[in-house]
Parts: sequence; C-alpha cells; structure tokens
Amino acid sequence: MTAWTVIVNAALDTGIHKHPSLDTWFMVTKKSTYVVGASADGYVVNLHWGKRLTQLDNLNATVTPKTLSQNPPITYALEELPAFGGLRYREHALKVDLPNGIRELNLLYSGAKIKGDNLLDIELHDGNRTDFKVTLHYEVDTENDMIRRSYTVKNGLSDRVNLDMALSAAWHPPTALNVDEKRELLTLAGEWNNEAQVQSTELKPGVAHTIESTRGFTDHVSFPYFAIRQVPSDVNPGTEVYFGTLAWGGSWEITAHTNTYGQIRITGGMHHLDFGWTLEPGESFTTPVFIAGFTDEGIPGARRRVPRHARKYQQASLQTQKDDSVYHPILYNSWEAVTFDVTYDKQVSLADKAAPLGVELFVIDDGWFGDRDNDSAGLGDWYPSKKKFPNGLKPLADHVHDLGMKFGVWFEPESVNPNSNLYREHPDWVLYYDGVPRYEARNQLLLNLGKPEVQDYIYDRVSSIIEESDIDYIKWDMNRPFQGVTMHDYDRNPREAWVLIARGYHNLLAKLKKRFPDLWIESCSSGGGRMDLSVLEYADQVWTSDNTRPDARLTIQYGASLFLPPRAMYGWVTDSGEDDNVHIPLSFRFHSSFMGGLGVGANLNNYSEKEMNETTGWISLYKRLRPVIQNGDLDWLVPPSREGQFIAASQTTSHDQQEAVILAFRMNSPFSAALNPVRPRYLKDDALYRVQIWLEDPYKIAEEYTMSGALLMHKGISLVGLNNAMFKSAVIYLKESSN
Ligand SMILES: *[C@@H]1O[C@H](CO)[C@@H](O)[C@H](O)[C@H]1NC(C)=O
Ligand SMILES: *[C@@H]1O[C@H](CO)[C@@H](O)[C@H](O)[C@H]1NC(C)=O
Ligand SMILES: *[C@@H]1O[C@H](CO)[C@@H](O)[C@H](O)[C@H]1NC(C)=O
Ligand SMILES: *[C@@H]1O[C@H](CO)[C@@H](O)[C@H](O)[C@H]1NC(C)=O
Ligand SMILES: *[C@@H]1O[C@H](CO)[C@@H](O)[C@H](O)[C@H]1NC(C)=O
Repeated sequence: MTAWTVIVNAALDTGIHKHPSLDTWFMVTKKSTYVVGASADGYVVNLHWGKRLTQLDNLNATVTPKTLSQNPPITYALEELPAFGGLRYREHALKVDLPNGIRELNLLYSGAKIKGDNLLDIELHDGNRTDFKVTLHYEVDTENDMIRRSYTVKNGLSDRVNLDMALSAAWHPPTALNVDEKRELLTLAGEWNNEAQVQSTELKPGVAHTIESTRGFTDHVSFPYFAIRQVPSDVNPGTEVYFGTLAWGGSWEITAHTNTYGQIRITGGMHHLDFGWTLEPGESFTTPVFIAGFTDEGIPGARRRVPRHARKYQQASLQTQKDDSVYHPILYNSWEAVTFDVTYDKQVSLADKAAPLGVELFVIDDGWFGDRDNDSAGLGDWYPSKKKFPNGLKPLADHVHDLGMKFGVWFEPESVNPNSNLYREHPDWVLYYDGVPRYEARNQLLLNLGKPEVQDYIYDRVSSIIEESDIDYIKWDMNRPFQGVTMHDYDRNPREAWVLIARGYHNLLAKLKKRFPDLWIESCSSGGGRMDLSVLEYADQVWTSDNTRPDARLTIQYGASLFLPPRAMYGWVTDSGEDDNVHIPLSFRFHSSFMGGLGVGANLNNYSEKEMNETTGWISLYKRLRPVIQNGDLDWLVPPSREGQFIAASQTTSHDQQEAVILAFRMNSPFSAALNPVRPRYLKDDALYRVQIWLEDPYKIAEEYTMSGALLMHKGISLVGLNNAMFKSAVIYLKESSN
C-alpha cells in the first residue's frame, strides 16, 4: 500500500479504531476525531485533533523533520506526554528523579490496548530503564466530542523514584495556518464575591499563559477551564474552538504556550509547586483526569458540551442524579435571617413561613453546633448546641418533615477554630510545621485530611448527625486556604500531603454518599471555590458565589455556565444590594436565580404579605419551567458585560428543542434607548411556538402569541416592557404548539 491510498470506510463509527497496518489510533466522536500514533522511532504523537474523519486515513506518525540545524526535531514533536529529558525544551508534563541522580526520561512506545467501546491504553517505557513504565489512558465521550486523559506511572525498577511533576496531559490544537490567523484564549478569573469572570487574550508567539491555584483546592481566583478560539477575519470565518477542564480538587495549573511557528501546547494537571510523590519499587501513581474537546460551533458549542459531559459523569456516580425527572429542590436557607442566632424556636418559625411559599428544602446554616455564636469559636465541635437545641436537631427535622419539606444542615468539616474542644484535644490534627506559626485565616486552621484518624473523626461526626437527625441534605463548606502542608509520623515523602488531602476530601464525600445514597450534598467554598468537574462526581450541586446581588450574579453565571450543568448552579433570592441605595425588584431577583437551581435566602421575617405572595407566585412558575431550566442547555443570547452594556439575556433549551426559557434583563442603564429584540436560537424552523412573557407579576402573562421558529429566530422577541427603566426583567417561555 502506498502512503496516500485511503482505506474507504465511509461509516467509520464513533468509538476507537486502530489503523489496520499502522500504529495509529482514531478516537471518533459524533463531530470530532482525535488521532495518535507511534512513530517508527517510538515517539507517541498527536496526528489530528479536530473535524470528524470518515475513514482511517493513512496517518503515519513521524517526528517533525528537522527544519533548522539548531532545532532538534524532538523539541517540536507533538508528543502526547512530553517528559523532561533529552532535547525537549517546550512545556513538560512529567519529571521524575530516577536512581543515580538521573532526571531524564525518554518515553518510547511499547504497546496499546483498546478496551471496550471508549477506552484506549497506550504503553510507554523509558528507553534505557525499560521497567519504568507509563500507561497513557484515553476515555472518549462520543456524544460531547470530549476526551478524558490521564496516565499511570509504574516503578518496576529496584530503587525508589520521586515524581517532581506529574501534569495529566499535553494537548496540541493544530498549528495556525498563516500569520494572519489569530487565536484567543478564554479563561475565568475571579475573587471571593466576584467569581468566574470571563477574560480573553490573544495568543502571541513566544508567550505562555498560565492559570493556576496554589491554595490546595480549586479556589475563586481562577477556574481550571480554558477555551481557545479562532478569531474571525476576512479569510477565516472563525468558529473552531478547543476547550478543556481538569477533574481535580487540589492545587492545579494549566499553561498554553505558543511558539513562533504557531504551534500551541496546552499542559495541565496537579500544580507542580511543592508537589512530590515517591514510588517505591512496584508502586504506581495515576494522575487526575484532564478533559478537552473540539467544536466548530464556537463558544456556544463549547458551553453546551462541558456541562453535558459533567452531567453524564455526575449521573454515572450519584444515585440522587440518575433520574432526570427528579429535580433539584427549591431551598430556603435561614442564614440571612438569623446569622449565628440559630435556635429551635426561630427555625421553627422560619420553617412555618417557608413551607407555604412552595419551598421544598429547609436548610440551617452556620451556628447550630458547639459554642458557635460567632466565627471565633466552636468550629470542629460537631455536636448540636445544648443552648440552642436542647433536644438535638431531631425535633426541628421532624417539624420540617411534617411541613412537607426536606431538612438540610451546614457543615464546615475541614476547618477548626483554635478555640474549640477539638483543637484543645487534638492540636496535632491540623496542618502545621513544627516551630512555624500556625497562621489563622478567618480565625481558622485546617485539619489534615491526609491523616486517616482525621478522616475517621469527620466521617463519624457528620454521619452520626445525619443519622440521628434524619438529615436529607448537607452543605459542605470550606473557607480557608492551605498552609503548613506536610505529613507527621509518616515514613514517606511529606510532600505527598497535597495529594492525600485532596483525595481525602473526595474520599469523605464518597463514603457519605455510599452510606446515605439518597443524601444530597452541596459543595460550597466561601462562595464559588471548589467549582470543578471532580467535585460534581461526589456532590449534587455547587454554591456559585456569596455575592447574591442579582446583577453581579449574571456575570458570575455567564462564566460558571461554561462548565456547570444548570441544575448544579445554585442562585438565591436575597435582599443583597438594597442597602446601597439601589432598589432591585423581587421579580429581577427571581429571574436571575431562575437560571439554575433556585434558592431563597432573604430574611422572610421582613417580607410583607405582598412579597410573600409574589414569592409564592415565582416559585410556582419556576416549578412549571424547571424541567427545561434544569435539564436543558444554557446559552447566552446577550452576554452580560461589566462595562457599557446594560442588558443580558440567556436561553435554556430542552434537548428536543420543543421548549425554551429565555431570561432577559435590563440593568441600571443611564440611557433611555430602546432594548433591541432578543433573537432566540436552536428552535425548529418549521415548528410553531407559543410565546408567553412575564414581567413583574408572576400571576399575569404580560404578552402571549404564536409564531414560527424561523420567524422568532430571525425577527426576535420584542421586549418593550423593558424599555426606559432600571432593573427590569422578563421570563419568556416558548413551547412548541400544534396550532
Ligand atoms: C511510515 O513512515 C516510516 C518512517 O518515515 C516509513 O519507514 C514507513 O514505511 C511508513 N509506513 C507506511 C505504511 O507508510
Ligand atoms: C541507552 O543508553 C545508551 C548509552 O548509554 C545510548 O547509546 C542509547 O541510545 C540509549 N537508548 C535509549 C533507547 O535511550
Ligand atoms: C464569640 O463567641 C464566644 C463563644 O460564645 C464568646 O466567648 C465571645 O465573646 C464571642 N466574641 C464576640 C466578639 O462576640
Ligand atoms: C429585618 O429583620 C431583622 C430581624 O430579623 C431586623 O433586625 C431588621 O430591622 C429588619 N429590617 C427591616 C428593614 O425591617
Ligand atoms: C396573590 O396575588 C394574586 C394576584 O394579585 C392573587 O390572585 C392571589 O389571590 C394572591 N394570593 C394570596 C394567597 O394572597
């Protein structure tokens, strides 16, 4: 067979295929293909990532030929796992301390195995130490055009080795075709109260961009998500996007480097800073998963795929998420009404107020345990306060259950106040270095979840309270970055603590879910920390931000909806903003929280009859729309912007395109200009849709008509009700109708 004949196989199915005569594997998804191959000299390289192929093209792996005598070819090879060693000078993914002071690897192909429909393992070994092995793992999500990658390092040598850096993968989008082809990197920046703000920057030759968290967990400052898109130009319509995210809950890094030839390499995984893992002879280590995908449908295409992928893996892991028709509950959380003053009487009175509104889950927050009257004491003492709950939490749980609601409780199990019985008894359970200050943040230290006895204590306390008090839901909070990360009384590498702690957290959630399969868990980390794809395999939902001002929430939800399934992204209706001389109507507050899971956090003690009635109306409308909102695809018709623009609109569409919910907002514009119509997307051209619009009144449909999908998508929906006013908003429900 000559190099350019093609094996015609027009029906190349989704899944993984090996080329019949070459060491080349085709990972075929619905709309993309990823091809890797082993070159004759043993290097495993990427051969294609992008458009779906229809045949097993003769892609023969070769290391890029030498172009200039100064450039060793291996430097520019698109190696799937570029390890430190040899003449490799671009971003590395793996670095190992071998015996005899050697720190170089030369990983070469030694075999491959396709497992089932969607798994591929490629075996590598080090050139001169063939018992040092690395297995590359690929798992293909064919529906969402995404590939999950990780690898296992196995030390078959007779001496120990240390891993100094073990990022999960390297990805290589195709090289830019010409100097005019510009590409933009989209990332998410943030801070507490200000999470997931979308940023974009042009990729320039010779520049590396890094996003990271060094705090021990996925924090607010940056999110482990990237998207690289072609910038439209006269020669390039520009819709191709490469995007990805990490499924890891510890410190992490992602770097995108572009060289002068326009080659982009993206590496990412566990942060290498202070990372260490020792492999004794015979031991192995598997990295977290780095997931990436391709779409030619622009950012909206990427925004649809990552949440669907996250949902698929969440459904595979959690009993509570298996059934799409079990919806996330409307919750009430009493924090803003009482803060630390959580007493039986006050909670009963709030529960009595919440139930008739249509609330389905009543949650008590911080303050119910130990000597917890403010944030300086009690954290760690997970026993109901005798003063506030003389008979424990069970009587309150019974009362809430009798009202027809589920009962939820807040925990922050990893943290401890030095002023607590737990710390007085076990000062050595926290993270610390001998002779170094134990720096407090928010009056807290952090327990070392790498220690089995600490995990046992937390598991025992949390599960006992759940069992004794009939708890249906827990909110697991975490408010303090790591410091003093090490292991005591541990005869291994103390740097392993970073990984042991991150795994300890997941392990605890997994144990709770195993013991209580119907328990719902919300992950919270002083607002939107710990929002990553790994936590969604253990928790049902995440708390997106402590900032509940609804206009701020729109920009936060714009970023977070790039990776969170809508049902997992919770938003509360609160009074936030009212004290800044701004009046934001209750309708606007509800509409912004209608984008995902709905909560009410306002102080119900201060709600007027009229507000209670309006709340009841919005909750009832939300229940009607929630099948679309929670199971659909969330996209943005008008992105919210922090500058200049005063409108925003989202659209959530059911997978069958028969229904959609559009939420449209007009913020505090100083201009009186009319609002342009919003143009829906993803409708069926030839179907007729019934359009219903609500403005300030949940009990009154402000406008109602029927129109074809084609006309709606072209002409748009006019929203004159939002003109010339501050903080006006609309809910628009589209449903396919037969007349
Ligand atoms: C693949 O490339 C190698 C080295 O360039 C060459 O020796 C081999 O014949 C090629 N195989 C095919 C089937 O084209
Ligand atoms: C093994 O080491 C020898 C010299 O020490 C070198 O010549 C040879 O290329 C190495 N082999 C591989 C596969 O790295
Ligand atoms: C915080 O709570 C503790 C325990 O109840 C109490 O001793 C302390 O005075 C409180 N501090 C403040 C500032 O209220
Ligand atoms: C709201 O309620 C709290 C007590 O729950 C009270 O201190 C506060 O003054 C009330 N605010 C208004 C505006 O009524
Ligand atoms: C709430 O308000 C609506 C519309 O104003 C009214 O029809 C309804 O009877 C009210 N419900 C209650 C419980 O007051």
